[in-house]
Amino acid sequence: MVTLLLTLSLVQITFTFQSQSALQENKLKYLTHRLEELNQSYRLLFSQYPALNQYCSVSNSSTGETVCTPCPAGWTPNGEKCFLFSQDRADWISSQYRCMALGGAVATVQTEEEQVLGA
Ligand SMILES: *[C@@H]1O[C@H](CO)[C@@H](O)[C@H](O)[C@H]1NC(C)=O
Ligand SMILES: *[C@@H]1O[C@H](CO)[C@@H](O)[C@H](O)[C@H]1NC(C)=O
Repeated sequence: MVTLLLTLSLVQITFTFQSQSALQENKLKYLTHRLEELNQSYRLLFSQYPALNQYCSVSNSSTGETVCTPCPAGWTPNGEKCFLFSQDRADWISSQYRCMALGGAVATVQTEEEQVLGA
């Protein structure tokens, strides 16, 4: 009787182990599939909007791995905006033209946080 119980519990342990590894295998398959989908969307997005590349710099030159940031290189993220600090002195009109050429606008201080950022 004891032997039978032992055998039964061993069978049960084996069964539990197998169902867990099957579960993990399914999870792995699902995640691999999602990764492929995301990889495809990512490549499609970058082929349609090459300007996105300025947000993604190569972080590892040997693998070509890129890291994307919410702001272009050299810009400082703050809240939902990106700021580019310029040391150049220019009047408001020419500053506005320069900023527009870079895809932005001259910053107007809208929050106290931005005031501190610009100080
Ligand atoms: C994404 O797809 C490209 C092209 O098929 C492939 O070279 C790259 O290894 C894929 N990346 C991942 C993380 O699957
Ligand atoms: C670049 O990738 C290689 C291969 O994965 C790795 O050995 C190396 O440490 C990485 N370098 C950096 C700077 O992350």
